Amino acid sequence: MHLLILAAFLSVTAALTVVFRRRYRSLSYIRGPSPPSWLFGHDIAFLRQQEVGEKDFKWMKEYGVTWRITSHFGTQVLMTADPKAMQHVFHKSGYNYVKRRDHAEMSRMFTGPGIISAQGEVHQRHRKIMNPAFSAPQLRTFLTLFQDIGIKMCDKWKGEVLDAPDKTVYVNKWLARTTLDIIGEAAFAYDYGALDQRNDRLSKVYSNIFVKTTLHSSKWLILWRSMWNYFPDALMPYIKYTPTKEHRHIRHATRIFQEVVGQVFDDLTGDVSEKEGKKDVMSILVKANASEDPKSQLSYTEMTAQMQSLTFAGHETTASTLSWMLWELAKHPDYQAKMRAEIRATRSAVLARGDTSFTIDDLDSMTSVLNAIKETLRFHPIVFNLWREAVNDDVIPLSEPIISATGETIHSIPIRAGQWLSMSICSYNRLPQVWGEDADSWNPDRFLDIDQTKQVRVGVFANLMTFSAGVRGCIGWRFSLIEMQALAAELLERFEFGLPKEHYEIVRVPAGLMIPLVKDRLELGSVMPLQVSMAQ
Ligand code: HEM
Ligand SMILES: *[C@@H]1O[C@H](CO)[C@@H](O)[C@H](O)[C@H]1NC(C)=O
Repeated sequence: MHLLILAAFLSVTAALTVVFRRRYRSLSYIRGPSPPSWLFGHDIAFLRQQEVGEKDFKWMKEYGVTWRITSHFGTQVLMTADPKAMQHVFHKSGYNYVKRRDHAEMSRMFTGPGIISAQGEVHQRHRKIMNPAFSAPQLRTFLTLFQDIGIKMCDKWKGEVLDAPDKTVYVNKWLARTTLDIIGEAAFAYDYGALDQRNDRLSKVYSNIFVKTTLHSSKWLILWRSMWNYFPDALMPYIKYTPTKEHRHIRHATRIFQEVVGQVFDDLTGDVSEKEGKKDVMSILVKANASEDPKSQLSYTEMTAQMQSLTFAGHETTASTLSWMLWELAKHPDYQAKMRAEIRATRSAVLARGDTSFTIDDLDSMTSVLNAIKETLRFHPIVFNLWREAVNDDVIPLSEPIISATGETIHSIPIRAGQWLSMSICSYNRLPQVWGEDADSWNPDRFLDIDQTKQVRVGVFANLMTFSAGVRGCIGWRFSLIEMQALAAELLERFEFGLPKEHYEIVRVPAGLMIPLVKDRLELGSVMPLQVSMAQ
């Protein structure tokens, strides 16, 4: 009820603002679907898609690689999967395309005033301070951590999980515990105890956080959130008190997080000399903070927010990607066997030279593993769509021209300050022009044939948009990649993955991030049931 009254009141102000702004930026000449309602536009339809990509792929087939959709109150939005447009917006424009304000505010609620929610100059400072912690040499030092925790998970499976033959395992639950333990140690030397299921209060609030906070929000909550775009700055600190169960859960999670990180931080800063040799991200940031330059300093709140940001952005993303990969491998047993053979051959070489563990070079030499990771990132992008708002007027170039409503061919699109863009990551990753005619099927071997030098350069890794790109691209992409390589090698060497005997229909559900769910079995939470057995 509260929400209804508030939404009604704010609608009036918002409507006036939008009508005013719309006069300046009509995209009517660009073709696109007409919205189901003026109030909600496509927002509800888009957020409640049965599966990620359902709407995007359909629209792209109908209108070409760039089209127009509508948000609340008739706000026109440019939606695109165009390679040059991606390159322009993410790579070439610096901070001219910022996150939509309500999206940044949602991130702020989940992660505090850290790198994910910061915009413009503040973001630039955060990023500059965080970058050294994610350099290639720094990340090499994490490899042993990835392997140790990965092996711990495998041992748990052997000891407890696979006691019955062909047991169905919810692999993504285990992978999320594994990646949570990893990010805890790597980010701030904290043991979440997730694999041991110690019921640590922090790991408890993170389990299923997306299902609890973003899945199936009511349409009034969706509208209320989009109204944040029109609020004066002074109101922003209060929106987190939105009286719904979703926001209560977010507040609860944040409170617990701050308590726990506060403790870790106090222990850590007790004696500066003890930090020598410590490699976790927080130790690195605390050392950097000793510098005189205010541009390399973070306040206490910003520091804890970075830890919250890393935990939030850095575990389910990686765990889900691996789950989708294992699911594909269950459906592609030949490819799975090829990977296992490659991993075992590499292991023999490692043992023969007197080592026990894979080095980064060993992992990089396993092409079929690497290609399966690339192909899964392409096919199942966890972050499937990114919204941006133009700061200044601009012109967006297209590599795939489109036909306007009046039949003209369009090669570039003029943009007004304030214009909204919806960048369809999942559609870019499926463009046949870029990935080949079979772009709609999962086929890792495509990376053997594709000449990536002929593509428009967009993303940080394999020219995919899955990690985004440019000044706001994923800071953890290389961390995640090494982590996935290491975990995949340990897992596939020991276990074989197949589809369970009982039929589960897996759906790719849009819940902020893309998560796997079993159709009509929401009570299970986010799960990926697979049949796991010891590999022969
Ligand atoms: C497969 C795994 C991952 C995927 C697909 C992924 C994807 C992304 C994407 C698309 C963004 C841009 C979001 C936006 O613009 O709103 C992003 C940002 C970010 N990611 Fe990742 N990520 C992954 C793993 C990780 C890991 C392991 C970490 C940390 C160790 C991490 C830390 C971050 C941070 C801190 C940002 C914010 C960067 C900024 O705004 O400057 N991510 N990620
Ligand atoms: C970083 O240094 C500044 C200036 O000395 C200080 O105000 C701030 O609290 C420090 N931040 C942390 C997280 O210790």
